[in-house]
Amino acid sequence: MKPLIIANWKMNPPTSRDAFVLAREVAKEVGGLNARVVLCPPFTFIPQLLPVKNVRIGAQNCSWQNSGPLTGEVSPVQLRNLGCSHVILGHSERKKELGETLGMVAKKAKAAKKTGLIAVLCVENTAELRSLKKKMGSFKGMVIVFEPFFAISTKGGKRVAPEIIAKTIREMKKVAGNTTPFLYGGSVGAASIATTISEGNVQGALVGAASLNAKEFVKLVKNAVSR
Ligand code: PGA
Repeated sequence: MKPLIIANWKMNPPTSRDAFVLAREVAKEVGGLNARVVLCPPFTFIPQLLPVKNVRIGAQNCSWQNSGPLTGEVSPVQLRNLGCSHVILGHSERKKELGETLGMVAKKAKAAKKTGLIAVLCVENTAELRSLKKKMGSFKGMVIVFEPFFAISTKGGKRVAPEIIAKTIREMKKVAGNTTPFLYGGSVGAASIATTISEGNVQGALVGAASLNAKEFVKLVKNAVSR
């Protein structure tokens, strides 16, 4: 299956020029590869990155409302109208450090889906996925990422063995069904992507730190394709 690699740039890089250069360097190299690559920059850089070819552009969050008085929020319809294809939702940093609840995540995912955005739903464990299922009913048209907080490179970067990833994905597929694509996230790099995909039984990865270095990220995509 064609690997899906989603770059989560978080609050990086510092300038729009840096963002453009990074996106262009990645795009130049991944064009001919049999992979789908989505770059999720901060909101401020999205308009500038949308014309870059060979990659799709996503956001890292959205509101559960399409308009109205919610200071500081960006709506799914605004993202869709810009040309975004994906939106990362429920990232553990937002839950743990900004107080986002699963109730909010479910509302956001439903709103994103209505506009045609592909929600990239991050969950830390099967219990979270079950709870979201209760709130949302179905994950149709979405992508699910198994990403434990402690595995994130800046949060301890604890390695999760591929067999544990595979076991968790099996449990999660019982909840979400077999048609939903699953990714893994947490310290994935060029050296680990191949085993993560083949032994972890996932279709690709959500990549943070390694996506900020064009060379490393391109290598990661190449290794995902040739695993
Ligand atoms: P990491 O981040 O690849 O730097 O661990 C992944 C993420 O937080 O989505």
